[in-house]
Amino acid sequence: HLPTKVTIKEVGPRDGLQNESKFIETQDKVDWINLLSKTGLDYIEVSSFVHPKWIPQLADSEQVLKSINREKGVTYAALVPNIRGLERALTCNVNEVSVFMSASEGHNKSNINKTIDETFPVLKEVVDEALKANVKVRGYVSTVIACPYDGPVSPEQVLKVVDRLAEMGVYEISLGDTIGVGVPTQVESLLSTLLKHFPSNLFAMHFHDTRGTALANVVKSLEMGITTFDSSTGGLGGCPYAKGASGNVSTEDLLYMLSAMNIETGVNQEALIESAFFIEEKIGKKLVSKQMEIARNE
Ligand code: HMG
Ligand code: MG
Repeated sequence: HLPTKVTIKEVGPRDGLQNESKFIETQDKVDWINLLSKTGLDYIEVSSFVHPKWIPQLADSEQVLKSINREKGVTYAALVPNIRGLERALTCNVNEVSVFMSASEGHNKSNINKTIDETFPVLKEVVDEALKANVKVRGYVSTVIACPYDGPVSPEQVLKVVDRLAEMGVYEISLGDTIGVGVPTQVESLLSTLLKHFPSNLFAMHFHDTRGTALANVVKSLEMGITTFDSSTGGLGGCPYAKGASGNVSTEDLLYMLSAMNIETGVNQEALIESAFFIEEKIGKKLVSKQMEIARNE
């Protein structure tokens, strides 16, 4: 009873690059996104409109969005933390925005400088204004398994935040294992709690692979009816405001597994790996996906 079709949301240009300390030239980001646009991916999170001092790597989000080639059928999305971020994003014709917060107080405070309760009205304003401008809004909930500051996070704690975001009118909620500690039994208990209240198509899963459990968690999520997954080409990624967070599950490793399981994604593996080698060269350090390693040894 596994799904036959899955949507992969590429978050490399945002989640992947935000954790890189060396500034990547704007043109290199644009060229990489243009390559990703030709892989068959239909969703690319290209940058974020957060405070440039908080994430200097993505301070060029306006230029990036204004410079990329827009392929037909591809959604170009960006993260926005508040109304100021939304205003910036709307000036460059973003297709979709994502609001974000955490299920735990510690990470929420360190990442966006507010308590959870203070965050809801800020996000609500963004959602209302974005929908008025005909821009769809996705929501992220971080630290859905554990928080680098507060420790374990219960499914009930996640449910509380999910409830409030769903009420605001986000069309999808991406559940982030921000520090990559989760294992399938925990994913099962989280999803079985949430799926008592919401349909599976409200959720996407966003696994970081810090401890090598991301693909196992994807399989558990597939078994529970989830059909949307976030990933980063080359396994880039991490959150500078979550100590110990490392890369997202790599898009090409995810794709290898899904394809071999006869699950359709519409994404071309060779083109994807080519784009991974492109950004690897620009970053100037070896990226870690299995598929890149195999390609290197061929
Ligand atoms: P703050 O300092 O509390 O902001 O930061 P503020 O509202 O008090 O405003 C202070 C100043 O910043 C003001 O300027 C604002 O205009 C300006 P002043 O009046 O003093 O001259 N400002 C802005 N400027 C440009 N763009 C903006 C903006 N907002 C305010 N959007 C804030 C609060 C949320 C802005 C800050 O904490 C921030 O930018 N945080 C972002 C951190 C971040 O990007 N983290 C990584 C993404 S989340 C993640 O990776 C997890 C995820 O992948 C899922 C998972 O893995 O779990 C999504
Ligand atoms: Mg992330």
